[in-house]
Amino acid sequence: MYALVTGGSRGIGRAIALRLARMGYNVVINYQSNKEAAEDTLHMLRELGVEAEALRFDVSNREETVAALQTWQQEHEGEYIEVLVNNAGIRRDNLLVWMEPEDFDRVLQTNLMSFYNVTRPLLIPMIVHKYGRIVNVASLSGQKGLPGQCNYSAAKGGLIAATKALAQEVGKKNITVNAVAPGFVRTDMVEGLDEAALKKQIPLNRFGEADEIAALVAFLASKDAGYITGECIAINGGLYS
Ligand code: NAI
Repeated sequence: MYALVTGGSRGIGRAIALRLARMGYNVVINYQSNKEAAEDTLHMLRELGVEAEALRFDVSNREETVAALQTWQQEHEGEYIEVLVNNAGIRRDNLLVWMEPEDFDRVLQTNLMSFYNVTRPLLIPMIVHKYGRIVNVASLSGQKGLPGQCNYSAAKGGLIAATKALAQEVGKKNITVNAVAPGFVRTDMVEGLDEAALKKQIPLNRFGEADEIAALVAFLASKDAGYITGECIAINGGLYS
């Protein structure tokens, strides 16, 4: 049993990878450049007694992504990735008037086009095996829209819509497709934000932890969640619903 977590070397992705390993999955983590973080995560995964491997590719690069996934498939004849977590993401915040075209494009490519690049090659094996779980890591920003994040809100909002569309395409094949929409979570991504000021707006009065997001993703990836599909579940300490 194999699971793939994109951007799985650190932050929320790493926490998800560890949860999936505890569920008994052999975990493939994708990473872009931080080999050291990927090695650390592989070590943690292997300590849990599962197989772990790292695949380096840029999820925004279609050719690179497809080639890496094809190679993995060739090296694992008879196996398939039954759990896919589209987690890799970046933000490049600015007010739209100041936002450079490359920051708009880069965020769309990494957070939304990546959904197509990674999911499509893995879908046929899931269909053939009549079982699959796809979980997309969206954001509060994609539900509500946040100022300074037209690019990120558009990408994550698009991801939520794609989740709902794909769920209807593949439900008959026993594949579920869901999204999670975290609020503020303590990872590298929120470095530089004023946590003390922001947490006053959060009913639970704190940022979330990566493992709290991972717990929800792991549930959606489990057999127990077999009747949930096309959903986007908010996990934001009560900030927005
Ligand atoms: P992070 O910055 O620690 O992790 C992001 C991961 O994505 C890293 O491992 C990074 O290497 C990988 N990545 C980025 N671009 C990539 C590319 N082109 N190809 C392959 N991998 C790439 O941040 P965090 O918080 O763990 O983010 C995980 C996901 O959660 C992202 O999709 C993010 O948008 C989402 N999220 C995070 C929130 C937060 O407050 N931290 C809130 C809502 C959503």
